[in-house]
Amino acid sequence: MLSVEHLLDTTSLTAEDITQILDVAASFEDKEGRASGRSGTLAGRTIVNLFLEPSTRTRSSFELAEKRLSADVLNMEGSSSSVVKGESLADTIQTISAMDVDMFVCRSRYAGTPQLITQNTNAKVINAGDGKHQHPTQALLDLYTIREHFGHLDNLKVAIVGDLSHSRVCGSLAPALKTMGSEVVLVAPPTFQVADPAYFGATQTAHFDEVLDSCDVIYLLRVQLERMEGAAIPSPREYFRLYGLDEARLKRMKEGAIICHPGPLNRGMEIAAESADAPNAKILSQVHAGVLTRMAEMYLLLGGDADAVA
Ligand code: NCD
Repeated sequence: MLSVEHLLDTTSLTAEDITQILDVAASFEDKEGRASGRSGTLAGRTIVNLFLEPSTRTRSSFELAEKRLSADVLNMEGSSSSVVKGESLADTIQTISAMDVDMFVCRSRYAGTPQLITQNTNAKVINAGDGKHQHPTQALLDLYTIREHFGHLDNLKVAIVGDLSHSRVCGSLAPALKTMGSEVVLVAPPTFQVADPAYFGATQTAHFDEVLDSCDVIYLLRVQLERMEGAAIPSPREYFRLYGLDEARLKRMKEGAIICHPGPLNRGMEIAAESADAPNAKILSQVHAGVLTRMAEMYLLLGGDADAVA
């Protein structure tokens, strides 16, 4: 049992919640390393994927996770839903809820949309990314990947590098790492920094090269060109020179350290092709972990017993 009813953020999750999700996720991996789950686990349950903002990988990952657990899946997009016809989101949610759905998975460009959904339904809600606020399922797949590599989540030093001020990934991952006992250092040019790093349980610096060789995980964020009003950085080339994980920085990384990135990648902007394809880059392992951890989150929120699958 999780201590939360919905998965809206990582700040409400205890270390026990996180460990439970990761353990159940691991139990869904079969001997060949595939996310197989138990077919039939969520049979008869209906999950609505409400994606009001474009998404490819998160959406496919949820859909596969749902299908691997045999749930009935309803996909709704912003452009096809009645929200565009002027119906309020509250009305849309109440209407769909009347069809007896068990869960909403919601992505929205507005912070707080998943919370609003909880007020209009008895179904469970998972936040698949809301504005610049939170992206808890991304943080959980990141934690899974990091734990799989190091065998633990405490006493690690993790640098989160990039467009912090636009990043819901940072907003979810940094507090979750702190909850699990790791140290987080935020790295960004001054225009991308957060106002209050202590809120994220982290320290903050503009000097990537000063922290690079002491970190166990270099977590690169995508530079979110679509969320930038006006240019906050002089040029992509300048950004890459100061903050990009190029070949020289790749060589200077601590021994055994790994590279993570939530995708989609801007090769040549925050990460060089050599680094993205390096043996210690875990980017595809993160994608793999996404299906497993989302299966675990849906299973546990819908009343699944952690002991039954562990
Ligand atoms: C992230 C997102 O959408 O917040 N990507 C993702 O979920 N795969 C990060 C990003 O878009 O940069």
